[in-house]
Amino acid sequence: MTDADLELLRKALAEIAPQGRTALLPALHLAQRLQGWVSEPVAAEVARTLRVPLADVFGVIDFYAMLHSEPVGRTVIQACSSPSCALAGADGLAESLCNHLNVAPGDVSTNGEFTVEHAPCLGLCDHAPAALVGEKAVGKADSNNPAAICAATGQSPESFVGGDIRILTSNCGAGRPTALADYQKSGGYAALKKALTMTPQAVITEVKTAGLVGRGGAAFPTGIKWEGAAAAPDQPKYIVCNADESEPGTFKDRILMEEDPHRTIEGMIIAAHAVGASQGYIYVRGEYPAAFRILSNAVNEARQARMLGKNILGSPLNFDIEMRLGAGAYICGEETALLESIEGKRGLPRIKPPFPTTHGLFQKPTIINNVETFCNVPLIIARGATKYRKIGTERSPGPKLFCVSGQVQKPGLYEVPFGVTLRHLLLDLAGGLNPGRKLQAVLMGGAAGAFAVEKDLDVKLTFEDLRAAELPLGSGAIVVFDDSADLRDMLKRLGHFFADESCGKCYPCQLGSQRQYEILDRGARNHAITGDRERLSDIGGTMIDASLCGLGQTAATAVLSAMKLWPELFDAKK
Ligand code: SF4
Ligand code: FES
Repeated sequence: MTDADLELLRKALAEIAPQGRTALLPALHLAQRLQGWVSEPVAAEVARTLRVPLADVFGVIDFYAMLHSEPVGRTVIQACSSPSCALAGADGLAESLCNHLNVAPGDVSTNGEFTVEHAPCLGLCDHAPAALVGEKAVGKADSNNPAAICAATGQSPESFVGGDIRILTSNCGAGRPTALADYQKSGGYAALKKALTMTPQAVITEVKTAGLVGRGGAAFPTGIKWEGAAAAPDQPKYIVCNADESEPGTFKDRILMEEDPHRTIEGMIIAAHAVGASQGYIYVRGEYPAAFRILSNAVNEARQARMLGKNILGSPLNFDIEMRLGAGAYICGEETALLESIEGKRGLPRIKPPFPTTHGLFQKPTIINNVETFCNVPLIIARGATKYRKIGTERSPGPKLFCVSGQVQKPGLYEVPFGVTLRHLLLDLAGGLNPGRKLQAVLMGGAAGAFAVEKDLDVKLTFEDLRAAELPLGSGAIVVFDDSADLRDMLKRLGHFFADESCGKCYPCQLGSQRQYEILDRGARNHAITGDRERLSDIGGTMIDASLCGLGQTAATAVLSAMKLWPELFDAKK
């Protein structure tokens, strides 16, 4: 990089420099956009400008898969190799791209144009096999036509949105974002207006009475979380939207953000009023550039319309939202890791307690909820808790979004009231299996989930029924495998995912996920050795008991559930 280029960088950084360390990730994104990668002089300039030690800057660059400390092609192509895409021939995809460009994965093509990388789930599982070409999403990527993939048009593939009800997704399915005026026409921001006439405590009571449970996977009651942050004496308070949805098989938050961005923003403003927060952040995963752009535009629209900023809609509420883009680290979906990432550090989970409600972002009281959870809030306030509870079941009230992918006829996003059966979702709504195929397994809850089989089809999709059937609801990811799927290969891919994404902070997960992957890889290659089943079960138990965060605690769930259902899959070949 020349001095003139560095000058350009300095100018670009000037605006965010006063934020200091918390601007590190945005600064590195900026630098990478200018240079294509982050060289040493550029990293040093970022360190100097933000007053962050250079070693810490390198530590952050190394942590995130989408930040590059070595040169890469002008366009990085990420080809997904997670289960839903693998079922649709994803391996052939990366191979064919590499052959076409005459490069090895990770290398730069001779004209400097492309680098091909294997990526974990890109949140495009309903369009498998999927790739991200620079910032352009490509669905149904045809490995017989790599040239067409490289020349991606930028037209995002449209997701199928269906279901028994269309409440949260009423504005989704048209394949375009809802502008502020459209959102208002459909009743948007009426809940905010109503909430501003209510006391903060009344808003919290309404959310508690509605029985809203977080939709991100941890299933914590939202109203109790809000009450904790509201009662915390410290100031300022923060609202953080976890839009780092990265669970393989999950893409619902992407569709909500891309097609109805104002719903999330409205939920966050209502939360700010409820707990007395003045600043919010939306942290969108790096693999969702379109969602990031659309939400950023919506935030600007909302600000211009005085829904954000000082004295929102003439009330005493002051609240604004800043956008943050992740850079490819699954662990940042863990709430405390995400907070660390916003603070400009590596996304390592914190030890809990203390919890974010009292010691969250910058150690201040913080509410962190995911996109779908925030999207439920306007609904609760607009309809009132009693009417909201008429949807779903007594113990699992409300609508729920499910992402169905894999070997079904109509992969897509389905909105149903809690309580419909898995059979209804898969066979009636998602069109069932492909002709002539039989059901082999259903992975419930994504990579951290567990397998269901034919006998589980009549289980009701509620928190309580799934718990009783020992199946996780997770964030609502459902991947279907018919009798043609190679489950050993799928398990190996899940094992690889966790070994790759473990942040390395604690040994049970760091070592356990590596050993687990090695054994699963052996099995997939038909090279299992005597005792592998016992070894896997030992490793799984240790990770569950001794890991620091949810990633390690759930990294073996799918493997252990497969072991119960199909023990022979793990035996050495006779
Ligand atoms: S369990 Fe895994 S991901 Fe979580 S802190 Fe430990 S090493 Fe990191
Ligand atoms: S995008 Fe490939 S599995 Fe999700």
